[in-house]
Amino acid sequence: MKVAIVTGVGGLVGAAAARAFSPIMDVVVGVDNDMRADFFGANASTRWSVEQLRGELANFRNVDADIRDISAMNALFGDFGANIAAVIHCAAQPSHDWAASDPFTDFTVNANGTLAILEATRTYCPAASFVFCSTNKVYGDRPNSLPLITVGQRYELAAEHEYAEYGIDESMSIDDSTHSIFGVSKAAADLLVQEYGRYFGMKTVAVRGGCLTGPGHSGAQLHGFLAHLMRCAATNQPYTIFGYDGLQVRDNLHAHDLAEAFLAIYAHPGSGRAYNIGGGRHSNCSMLEAIEMCESITGTKMAITYDDTARIGDHKWWISDTRAFSKDFGDWSPVYDVPAILEAIYVEGRSRWCE
Ligand SMILES: NC(=O)c1ccc[n+]([C@@H]2O[C@H](COP(=O)([O-])OP(=O)(O)OC[C@H]3O[C@@H](n4cnc5c(N)ncnc54)[C@H](O)[C@@H]3O)[C@@H](O)[C@H]2O)c1
Repeated sequence: MKVAIVTGVGGLVGAAAARAFSPIMDVVVGVDNDMRADFFGANASTRWSVEQLRGELANFRNVDADIRDISAMNALFGDFGANIAAVIHCAAQPSHDWAASDPFTDFTVNANGTLAILEATRTYCPAASFVFCSTNKVYGDRPNSLPLITVGQRYELAAEHEYAEYGIDESMSIDDSTHSIFGVSKAAADLLVQEYGRYFGMKTVAVRGGCLTGPGHSGAQLHGFLAHLMRCAATNQPYTIFGYDGLQVRDNLHAHDLAEAFLAIYAHPGSGRAYNIGGGRHSNCSMLEAIEMCESITGTKMAITYDDTARIGDHKWWISDTRAFSKDFGDWSPVYDVPAILEAIYVEGRSRWCE
């Protein structure tokens, strides 16, 4: 019997991972306690997504437990033991703004929670392929020291800059920068995941995501930028841009493309490595460009307000260089670009938002 454990399964990435692994596993066990609703309010609850997975995948079940609950995690992993072939760890407190309001909860969920899942894996299924959803926030605000120029409605790098063609690679230092409390808790987890590969020889890989997105995101003001933006456009809600005049650039990766990357890791498990992953040059936009696209898709003019205060640790420009990942994992590359992602969010989100 082959089992995949997916933590944070109701979330954007966890749900996509469950769908991707369901056909190649006998059982997919999710772990999600809907803590996203505690972080961001009822609108951000992921219960609907867990229910959808229950209806859709015959071999899926969810355990409503906290990843920090060591005895619950040990009981779950102990039940399936060496049959666990893949552990996809997506549960997190995912917002750098929220983290500052409760650093203790942020750190215990992101760092201690990851340690609990790593230890359960080491104890009960050390041969499993372990994938951790890390983040580009491990680099802190170091990308903001890049020599950015304004081109049209976005920040850009001059063509001759080393990161201009493919984006930022893993050689960027994680030291000497402001990470936000969230960036630190995720960096701690990222290092633990690498160390369990190097020190204990486990098959651990950390993928440092740029903006991850898609119709499965329960977007909220503090997390899930494209999903929240499109929801505001479709439901005529005001939207606030924080800092940088809306010129800030993010690359955006559809959760489906990320789940394909997880399958590629499972097929050729690595050990102790961390990779940047995102939409790269194929799929990126500035805030202003994203607003324009939302307006064009919904046919409405958005009510935008500006707040000059940028979020602490927020990037002015991030595009992931994914060449290291693609080289090690079978030429993986993203399929969806930003217009296709926004269209999908709109089409699938409309009915849910109207309810
Ligand atoms: N979405 C992004 O833009 C992005 C970017 C980079 C990295 N990441 C990382 O990817 C991962 C998944 O992100 P996402 O966007 O799917 O997040 P999400 O908030 O949509 O999903 C996370 C899920 O984990 C659950 N959860 C939270 N704390 C829990 C706990 N203590 N015990 C059990 N379940 C818990 C939540 O209820 C939620 O359903 C996270 O680790 C996040 O840091 C996300």
